[in-house]
Amino acid sequence: MGNQKRSAPTIVVIFGASGDLTSRKLLPALYNLSLDKLLTDRLAVIGVDRTAKSDDDFRRLMRQAVDKYSRRGKADDAPWAAFAADLHTLSGDFNDDSLFKKLAEMIGDKKKEWGTEANIMFYLATPPSVMELVANGLCNAGLAADKARSRIVCEKPFGRDLDSARELNAKLTCVFDESQIFRIDHYLGKDTVQNILAFRFANSLMEPLWNRRYIDCVQITVAESVGVEHRGGYYDKSGALRDMIQNHLMQILCYVAMECPVSFNADEIRNKKVDVLQAIRPISEDQVHLSAARGQYDSGWVRGEQATAYCKERSVSPESNTETFAALRLQIDNWRWHDVPFYLRSGKRLPARVSEIVIQFRPVPHLAFPPDTVPDIQPNRIVLRIQPDEGIQVKIQAKQPGSPMRLQTVDMDFLYKEAFPRASEPEAYETLLLDVILGDATQFMRADQVEAAWSVVMPIISAWENVRPTDFPNYPAGSWGPDSAVMLLARDGRNWWVPDVQKGKPSDASP
Ligand code: BG6
Repeated sequence: MGNQKRSAPTIVVIFGASGDLTSRKLLPALYNLSLDKLLTDRLAVIGVDRTAKSDDDFRRLMRQAVDKYSRRGKADDAPWAAFAADLHTLSGDFNDDSLFKKLAEMIGDKKKEWGTEANIMFYLATPPSVMELVANGLCNAGLAADKARSRIVCEKPFGRDLDSARELNAKLTCVFDESQIFRIDHYLGKDTVQNILAFRFANSLMEPLWNRRYIDCVQITVAESVGVEHRGGYYDKSGALRDMIQNHLMQILCYVAMECPVSFNADEIRNKKVDVLQAIRPISEDQVHLSAARGQYDSGWVRGEQATAYCKERSVSPESNTETFAALRLQIDNWRWHDVPFYLRSGKRLPARVSEIVIQFRPVPHLAFPPDTVPDIQPNRIVLRIQPDEGIQVKIQAKQPGSPMRLQTVDMDFLYKEAFPRASEPEAYETLLLDVILGDATQFMRADQVEAAWSVVMPIISAWENVRPTDFPNYPAGSWGPDSAVMLLARDGRNWWVPDVQKGKPSDASP
């Protein structure tokens, strides 16, 4: 986390090199790291896939990907040529041991050419079903043996339920030490998510307030205006609960709710996060309707454009029961959070792309102001804005100028782009890939953490699988989700905070 060291010689092996993730995220991230001089000059990338491709074709495709997706825009010829010289490909069947033998030879040759040992990162940009196969292939070829230098990175989703995650953990840990396994959740690479820790634990102002005595509820929203785009095939088997809540929103919840770590040691932080997950009150299957809501988008209008219904999206079953929206009400059973509900929601085809955490405070114990001075008093809120318009807003009551006395809610704003005008924010994958290369596991999920997060959502998954939704599609594209999500809070006498999408002018583009 926040490392500025330059890395040791490194070979990055990407399984699933012709996939979307490699083009959109991994290659642009590696290229930007190299431009920022955070990587060694001795960096080789080997893209492994089933379909054969020449090195030159791979380089050409990756150049197109970088031109299209890099935060810096089109690559310049000279630095690109220097970077691309060490991009290679290898094709074969992941079932076939000879693929891994060839890979071991390529790695050996590279180390010989450099005349030095190297860190090896095996990046599994593959579905969970293939991960075991690749791990075994690596093991048989002796590529997992160097516990200090070889690392395996597993993309999410890590399993598709608790049992499969446990099984995958068991299989991976037969081959690799836990210290070699980096389970990635790209939300943890976002500066604004890491800033939750800075905000809470580097400011003495916050800690006295950060508990059940002052906080009424916490709301975490990760909204997307896009639909499933070209990922219907994957998404239809996943849904919002598995795709977003079990991982990204749970990680955010951990940062909001965890106790202060003693240090930034990876295990210390991860221990504190697991404590949160383990303190979440289990939801019994027959009570799921009171603690969770699901939705699927219908056709509608999003930001002035017509959107088709989920069931009519490419590669989605017309009879699909998959939820494109999920909301949860969770309780954390510990001293700090007793009786403070945590509301989580995430969905596609909502009015805007906006991710934020709202800390809603209790009202003052006694309001001395006459009622007509405060016609619409709002609770104090802290809005931690993950994206866009990254920053923090504190909503407080202030006296309007002049008389008579009138109060109004106003904002105290911290905006990243104003506070750090010259900083160019790295993409989450840049931060995380550098962490892997440097061997820093702080921002990665440990086995027990993934399993604990699955345990929280399992009763909901089973209840939803057992009782088919009767009302899908139940929210029009461009709305804030189904009525059942509103009810989740209304039953507690609360409302969802509506993100300030007008003022924030959130961008629509999902990177
Ligand atoms: C991914 C999900 O993990 O996160 C996608 O699979 C989602 O469905 C994406 O669109 C959102 O990430 P971000 O960084 O754009 O909020």
